[in-house]
Amino acid sequence: MTGRIDVVTIFPGYLAPLELSLVGKARAAGLLTVDVHDLRDWTTDAHRTVDDTPFGGGAGMVMRPDVWGRALDEVLAAGADASRTVLVPTPAGEPFTQAMAEELALLLCAGGQLALACGRYEGIDARVAEHYQGTGEVTVREVSIGDYVLNGGEVAALVIIEAVARLLPGVIGNPDSLVEESHGSAGLLEYPVYTKPPGWRGLDVPEVLLSGDHGRIARWRRRRAVDRTAARRPDLIDALGPAQVRPARAADAEALAEVAGRTFPLACPASVPAADAAAFVAEQLSAEMFRRYLRDRRRHVLVAELAGAIVGYTMLAVGAPEDEQVRAAAPGAGAELSKCYTLEGFHGRGVSGALLAETLDLAARLRVDTLWLGVNQANERAQRFYRKHGFQRVGERTFTVGSRTEHDYVMARTLVRP
Ligand code: ADE
Repeated sequence: MTGRIDVVTIFPGYLAPLELSLVGKARAAGLLTVDVHDLRDWTTDAHRTVDDTPFGGGAGMVMRPDVWGRALDEVLAAGADASRTVLVPTPAGEPFTQAMAEELALLLCAGGQLALACGRYEGIDARVAEHYQGTGEVTVREVSIGDYVLNGGEVAALVIIEAVARLLPGVIGNPDSLVEESHGSAGLLEYPVYTKPPGWRGLDVPEVLLSGDHGRIARWRRRRAVDRTAARRPDLIDALGPAQVRPARAADAEALAEVAGRTFPLACPASVPAADAAAFVAEQLSAEMFRRYLRDRRRHVLVAELAGAIVGYTMLAVGAPEDEQVRAAAPGAGAELSKCYTLEGFHGRGVSGALLAETLDLAARLRVDTLWLGVNQANERAQRFYRKHGFQRVGERTFTVGSRTEHDYVMARTLVRP
């Protein structure tokens, strides 16, 4: 059973694109019925008037309820036996979302009717929405397609119809195309996509996509989707809920190396040349080094995961400090918090706090009484974070980054055994 879409407008020609492309084909194939109506067909005066001045004064004109009432009564009669929704596009409406598109597609699939009432000028007299909602026979939703103002509802109606129609069975040839889209069920924006040629104007397709290794490709796409979402739509990241903290697995080594390579340079002061930071990353934070860390029974790596991508990690190294400077500063320390890093796009979202809390718990379960860490003297943000989590400055140490000798503070805190 296919539903029907009716559009009422004073510019039927505006909706001509509905003859084209996938929506046009779907209509031609009988998958969808779309009728566009001219509101002026329901006027009664010689000038075919649809608007008048606003009560209470103000600029512009308001569309008359009597004309709209006659139009909608007749249009809605065509869907009288089915579930009916009237959509009124307006910048003052609730946001139109993919979730709403899915809801409306279900309505159509069940043989329902969608009527779009396109206003112009300052909008439609408010009693029209109130009246139809009050009948209890139709659902009225005033919807906005974005935080900007168009000249009328027609372009919004096109947007809504396209978003809904492409979800109807048979409209898109390959339904797999719908699976990994932006605003899909994963709550992420889509990863970037590439096609032939593999090299173009000096830009190469990322090597992993040519590797044929489906696991690596899937992880890479997840990573890019999460990064892109954090950079462009942090609100969607927040909507995912808290990051999951779990022990790292051998299969995480590559992802850990990538996160480490991106976070370590940011923890270095500007005085550390990029080459020195890069040398440290290559020596200490490669995938091979992480594989080693993950095999080492005295090291415990925890990762924070969001939507299946690692966004932060900690490493706890159990044992007395080897460095004389640290032994002097934190006598009796039983473990080092040797790494605690979160990707920049995820700072301030509770990821580091959740990671650190789990790591402190783990250390306490491992019967560590005192935990120490080294933090660059110039990295005040990190020092504030550690102070907030109970660490205090107890001394200093030198630390080698590439060819440079850097100056750290040693911080420590005691733990309460469970
Ligand atoms: N009419 C004018 N601006 C609009 C918008 N942003 N969304 C929906 N309908 C509109």
